[in-house]
Amino acid sequence: MVIISERVKEIRESATLSFDKKVKERLAAGKETYELHRGAPDFDMPLEAQKEVSRAREGYSDVRGLLNLRKAISQKVKEDQGLDYDPSQILVSAGSKMSLYLAFQSILNKGDEVLLSSPYWLSYPSQIKLAGGIPVEVPTKDFKLDIDAIKEKATDKTKAIVINTPNNPTGVVLGREEVHDLAEFAIDKGIFLIEDEAYEKFVYDETKHYSAAMLFDAEGKENILKVGSFSKTYSMPGLRVGYALGPQELIDAMSKLQSQIYSHASVSSQRAALAAITSQTFNLKEIMEEYNKRRLTMLEGLRKLGLITYAPQGSFFVLADISEHGTSVEVSNKLLDAGIAVTPTEDFGSNNHVRMSYANTQEKIREGLEKMGEFFQ
Ligand SMILES: Cc1ncc(COP(=O)(O)O)c(C=O)c1O
Repeated sequence: MVIISERVKEIRESATLSFDKKVKERLAAGKETYELHRGAPDFDMPLEAQKEVSRAREGYSDVRGLLNLRKAISQKVKEDQGLDYDPSQILVSAGSKMSLYLAFQSILNKGDEVLLSSPYWLSYPSQIKLAGGIPVEVPTKDFKLDIDAIKEKATDKTKAIVINTPNNPTGVVLGREEVHDLAEFAIDKGIFLIEDEAYEKFVYDETKHYSAAMLFDAEGKENILKVGSFSKTYSMPGLRVGYALGPQELIDAMSKLQSQIYSHASVSSQRAALAAITSQTFNLKEIMEEYNKRRLTMLEGLRKLGLITYAPQGSFFVLADISEHGTSVEVSNKLLDAGIAVTPTEDFGSNNHVRMSYANTQEKIREGLEKMGEFFQ
């Protein structure tokens, strides 16, 4: 008889992936379902990337990822954020989920604490626990970062703080000052900062995305790991390409670990990522305009239903307050039975909400919300 390790027993399967499986089963059974739970974009990836995936070949690549891809990522952060990272300070991995996992494994010792502003993306706590660390939830104010609460929760065991802006699941985007103050505190205290920028391009209206690394000098940057993803920006989540940029010593450690776990990200996927980031045809601005229309449709609908009291400015998620109707899991299960898929947020640190995604057409969002209104009547 096999006995599963305590380490793995302690974590749960990703609730977003298991919920998505339930939705897919419903769809396969021909049951009408409004998919307002999606964590993946519904656009096509850049044409150039599509061509790359269909080319047959491949030997192994450098563990850190194809040099040309790392050069292109280096150039992108230079253009977007004015930051200098040598390709040797960049590690490409099988999705940014893996980049984060490698980071926690590389910096945490048993009992080290990691601060997470709550609600948070659901994989952080499990990944931290798998690395022997302790996730520490820090409350937010109206989903905005609460620097005083962070200071209060920091102890001499605090090893890292995770910052995720634009945020999944809240859609909140931190302003320049908030990012600066948090990073300044972390740098002063010698607490490492992990910046998850998976949704960096998903900002609306006049909102800007700030990375802490943009606001500090070379010494400050030594205290920061930046994590990025191809999944959302280029609509290619299934290809699994993410990356980390940071201090040489940490990138070297993560690379060593990657070399022993699975060598490197798929070479075809890396080529597709290179084609995506250098694409001449991909029109992200147009895609973002469409996302913004969807966001406004979603917010208007939720306000009419009295389920939202804040204005998310980023990612493609919002949290709807369903506390009057039951817990997050109860309500999302009942909604799914009624043909509306929304994500339960218990594992994101909130029992009072469900996560709604506007990675769907305006028409589907409108219809799904109408159905939701009937359900709550
Ligand atoms: C906040 C956040 N970080 C990281 C990831 C991981 O994305 P990927 O592994 O596809 O790059 C996700 C995916 O949903 C996410 O929402």
